[in-house]
Amino acid sequence: MFISFEGIDGCGKSTQIHLLQEYFKTRGIQCHVFREPGGTTISEQVRKILLHGGDEMDPVTELLLFSAARSQLVSEKVKPILDQGDVVILDRFYDSTVAYQGYGRKSAPVDEIIQLNQLASHHTVPDLTLYLRVPPLVAKKRTEGAEKDRMEKSGDDFFENVVRGFDDLSKREERFIAIDAAGSVQKTHSAVLREIQKHF
Ligand code: TYD
Repeated sequence: MFISFEGIDGCGKSTQIHLLQEYFKTRGIQCHVFREPGGTTISEQVRKILLHGGDEMDPVTELLLFSAARSQLVSEKVKPILDQGDVVILDRFYDSTVAYQGYGRKSAPVDEIIQLNQLASHHTVPDLTLYLRVPPLVAKKRTEGAEKDRMEKSGDDFFENVVRGFDDLSKREERFIAIDAAGSVQKTHSAVLREIQKHF
């Protein structure tokens, strides 16, 4: 079973992933969590370049680096784990590339990004994608005071467009489920569990 979580910075993904991992653990289900970009030695090195490299990074370079980190994670970890029958939870997957690089950065036309995503993911598709939806202003409040990485410094218009990207994906893709994540942690966790129980 392959589950991915999506949403803008400050949507509460990490907290919800942690709670879901605990839920699986109490039921004796083997579950592996990886973050994107990251999750392997090579992908973590690429993450450093992406989040803390210079501001001069070309948008297509950025797109290709996210894709490179993904390819390594999928071939080295995700595919072998899915093949042995365990659960994989990803903190972001290629839908982030559509929303951030396609709608936010406008690095390339969305249909070209979708093609690239298929290559970079080795044609691996999540069974379920949970999109934690929060208005950008709520997310901004939640992350206030924290140090910002290169992506997070992108500005309000950028994040409005990223949200539009995720919203479009939830209309287009059956596996892509929007969950209202503007309320309490517990309320969002209950909504996550409802979707998990509905699908599996
Ligand atoms: P994330 O790990 O969620 O950030 P944090 O550690 O601050 O919670 O994601 C890293 C950043 O990379 C985030 O701003 C989203 C961005 N990103 C893209 O722009 N494209 C992508 O394909 C992915 C996977 C992430």
